[in-house]
Amino acid sequence: MEKLLEVKDLKTQFFTYAGVVKAVDGISFDIMKGEAVGLVGESGCGKTVTGLSIMRLISYPPGKIVSGSIQFDGKDLLSLSEKEMREIRGGEISMIFQDPMTSLNPVLTIGEQIIEVLTLHKKISREDAKKQGNRFIESCTDKISRGGYITISTSIKWWYETESYDSDCFSM
Ligand SMILES: Nc1ncnc2c1ncn2[C@@H]1O[C@H](COP(=O)(O)OP(=O)(O)O)[C@@H](O)[C@H]1O
Ligand SMILES: [Mg+2]
Repeated sequence: MEKLLEVKDLKTQFFTYAGVVKAVDGISFDIMKGEAVGLVGESGCGKTVTGLSIMRLISYPPGKIVSGSIQFDGKDLLSLSEKEMREIRGGEISMIFQDPMTSLNPVLTIGEQIIEVLTLHKKISREDAKKQGNRFIESCTDKISRGGYITISTSIKWWYETESYDSDCFSM
């Protein structure tokens, strides 16, 4: 099997007024292509910070990746520019945050958030992204109307419960 992700001796720390929190202190692991890996540990042991570090979503201050390396598909993630990282984030590596039912941004329309991902990663026009997004929403509402349960986010659930669906939901 081919190696897809290689995390080596990764250390991420938070520099707080109360002292340095060694949230991740030298984790190493590999993930092969097609492999599913679960990271298990007690609350506070550093699972989320490991994921956020791989996505380069640790903000400084107070957090910082202080050492180690993250190789993904031949790329050294710790040396990529923010622009290059944005192409990987959401396109090649995604994170489903804890409590995904509330993870959509409530100040942006759902359409805007779907369009952003599609135009950014698929390099398609805004018009095509709207069409594709509409098809996605239609397939969801179709499942809901057939009695299926679908978890996309509270926002969609809320919107679905309070507004009747109309294909103009993407117009800003
Ligand atoms: N922004 C932060 N500032 C200070 N400490 C943090 C911050 N984020 C996480 N930590 C600390 O890092 C450690 C690992 O947290 P986390 O990765 O969220 O654990 P979990 O394994 O439950 O996902 C915990 O001790 C947590 O308190
Ligand atoms: Mg966590």
